[in-house]
Amino acid sequence: PKRIGILTAGGDCPGLNAAIRGVGKTAIVNYGMEVYGFNAGFLGLINKDYTILKESQLSGILTVGGTILGTSREKPYKIVKSDHGETHKPEMIKQTYSELELDCLVCIGGNGTMKTAHMLAMEGLNVIGIPKTIDNDVWGTDVTFGFESAVQVATDAIDRLHTTANSHQRVMIIEVMGHNAGWLALYAGMAGGGDIILIPEVPYNIRSVCKKIEKRYENKKPYSIIVVAEGIEHPKKGSAASYLAEAITTYTDIETRETVLGYIQRGGSPTPMDRILATRYGAFAAECIANECFGTMVALKKGDLTTVPLDEVGGKLRLVDPNHQLIQKARKMGVSFGDEYMQ
Ligand code: F6P
Repeated sequence: PKRIGILTAGGDCPGLNAAIRGVGKTAIVNYGMEVYGFNAGFLGLINKDYTILKESQLSGILTVGGTILGTSREKPYKIVKSDHGETHKPEMIKQTYSELELDCLVCIGGNGTMKTAHMLAMEGLNVIGIPKTIDNDVWGTDVTFGFESAVQVATDAIDRLHTTANSHQRVMIIEVMGHNAGWLALYAGMAGGGDIILIPEVPYNIRSVCKKIEKRYENKKPYSIIVVAEGIEHPKKGSAASYLAEAITTYTDIETRETVLGYIQRGGSPTPMDRILATRYGAFAAECIANECFGTMVALKKGDLTTVPLDEVGGKLRLVDPNHQLIQKARKMGVSFGDEYMQ
């Protein structure tokens, strides 16, 4: 029987355990494979820190947030000063892989993880990637698991801000995560009925943002909700939200408050759709191992499971198209992207 390794790397997100369970159960139950779970991402391979996962350990984890394997942002190919110009970590990983006689390594992660997975594949390891992240920015797939759960959390928060914004007639700014991509802000902003949505992919102008707020005020809409992605460009050192709050108070005189949602967006139980997506990815990855379809990342394209070569994925970001259909529709409804009054 084949022996496979599995790890979760990069920032955590809801659905990681569902994916581990999907891979592990399919591998054990359907193919009779052995499953080694490596702890804390690539560190587990570097330090030979692993557990042999039995089917019983994969029960009861579907709905649980986080990852039973732990995670880290360890990048084995990155050379740091103390490495004196070289890193031995990839060698250590290869050694663990061959010592344990692994037939394949399943890497569950985002862009950085796919890059490392690709480099390991180039060195001769059999690797399969599974895309996860709340940022939804992995190249080669239409969607990553974790994204929908984060949209749910951010939407709940926006709903709550609506009522307090309305009571006080304030401008409420909510900053959501997303790294350099605006997916989370766009989707949560639309689901939560945001009045202004600012994302890195669409350049905004602070005067235009203020003008939109003032126009709303004049039109008897004395409160406004701004949903901003953490990755937008701004001239200040702190958060995007604090920059906006300061600028809006200065230019409009309307009371403004900010909320930076933070890690709440990455915690807790996955939504039903994320559970299903992570399970599908996991089970499909096990099938790919059985079919020896290595050097690939499992993906979803137009609703169908497929594989993409890891060399096409690694390092590339999938950003929001500024002409995305949802943005076009939103604009027609009067949602602002902070660029309407720019000349
Ligand atoms: O990639 C997920 C993410 O939550 C991003 O949205 C955010 O920018 C980053 O991770 C935060 O990273 P860390 O967990 O290292 O603070």
